Amino acid sequence: MDGQHLSAALIRGLSKGDAKAAGQYLASPAGIRRQVVGALDERGLALLTRLIKEAKRKKFEKATTRFLRLAQGSIETPVYLIDETLIEENMKVLMYVKDRTGAKVFHALKSYASFATFPLMARYLDGTCASGLHEAMLGRKEFRKEVHTFSAAYRPSEIRAIISHSDSLIFNSFYQLRKYGGPARKGGLDIGLRVNPGHGEVETEMYNPCAPCSRLGIVHAEFEKEFPKLRKGVDGLHFHALCQQNSDVLERVLTAFVKRYGKYIRGLKWVNFGGGHHITRDDYDLERLIRLINDFKRTFKVQVILEPGEGNVLNAGVLIASVLDIVKNRAEIAILDTSAETHMPDVLLMPYRPHVLNSGKKQEKKYWYRLAGPSCLSGDVIGDYSFDRPLRRGQRLVFTDMALYSIVKNNTFNGINLPDIAVIRDSGSVEVVKKFGYKDYRDRQS
Ligand SMILES: Cc1ncc(COP(=O)(O)O)c(C=O)c1O
Repeated sequence: MDGQHLSAALIRGLSKGDAKAAGQYLASPAGIRRQVVGALDERGLALLTRLIKEAKRKKFEKATTRFLRLAQGSIETPVYLIDETLIEENMKVLMYVKDRTGAKVFHALKSYASFATFPLMARYLDGTCASGLHEAMLGRKEFRKEVHTFSAAYRPSEIRAIISHSDSLIFNSFYQLRKYGGPARKGGLDIGLRVNPGHGEVETEMYNPCAPCSRLGIVHAEFEKEFPKLRKGVDGLHFHALCQQNSDVLERVLTAFVKRYGKYIRGLKWVNFGGGHHITRDDYDLERLIRLINDFKRTFKVQVILEPGEGNVLNAGVLIASVLDIVKNRAEIAILDTSAETHMPDVLLMPYRPHVLNSGKKQEKKYWYRLAGPSCLSGDVIGDYSFDRPLRRGQRLVFTDMALYSIVKNNTFNGINLPDIAVIRDSGSVEVVKKFGYKDYRDRQS
């Protein structure tokens, strides 16, 4: 079918709510997709959004069985098992946001940096956002698209290398802009400033960039004093104030940002809305996000950038662990070959209780256990869980949603080995892309 006929057929199918047409839309080249979203009316677009979300939800539902089946097989534990096909499902949602808005989407490397899946992600996204030299290098060498770097402060000894591996450099103070803006500009980079929008709704202070006395983002009073003198050397503004949030929170943050910084936006090249957008979550309001971006672009005539991390790999990986032993002390405590302290540190930091497939809350099912790690830390406890049958030594457990902020943050406390990293490829084959050992532990100690 030629391009004209294909887009006409897709438009007809989508207007009737045909799920197959939504799949074909996502698999079509960019030109066809542009024609289709350009031709659909508001109702048709809302229908397309629904179909895309529904198709994605079904794929993730099916994946649960696959994870359980693989956990019962010969795979060695502990292992982070990443499903590339699920990452692709997330990527398609982001591509759709790009289709509808023209926004650029970068992957925040801080959340997930397993480059074995970067060739796939780079087919959909515009590049990476980096927190400093090493992430900028990884973005440049492995993702091979744009690199946008922000750090709360840059080290003099690293700045040249950061400039050579970045396409834009975002500063957290006017001091840093004055010091490094010149060399960055000479290197051909875009220059940005991170501002504090003055409104955040993240309840856990640890994760709230807008908490009182936050060091992240220039506050409005400082900005007003200095920006007019330096505006010529600035291409864009950046804010990051969300954490695992929906687009209603973005709307309120954006309102606060525009109230404070709106009069300075026209004439800039871009505004970066940061990360923390839980775009690929089932209940995420995509239509509102799309409306917010399009309204913003229409008003201010700038490129909008998003830099989610979590959302890109949400629910796309698990951590499979084995029960090593079960001890008794008022409760039955299962000691696993994984640990909250070393392999899922956010469980203790956030804190949160990760879900284990086929488990319930404490005492919801007949047999309950405390799941804990093998380290010396008394608090190395993952949580209390219940099961339909008693746990056995050697049994495998599957912790869900472990691709994000786990592999990038894990550590070798107590000399505990790091989990393998394995990827389920499109073909269904499982590739163990990394195994760790004594050398990795030793090399970090000197
Ligand atoms: C500046 C910045 N951008 C992007 C992100 C990615 O956020 P998330 O992984 O929650 O989407 C973060 C997370 O802390 C961040 O600090």
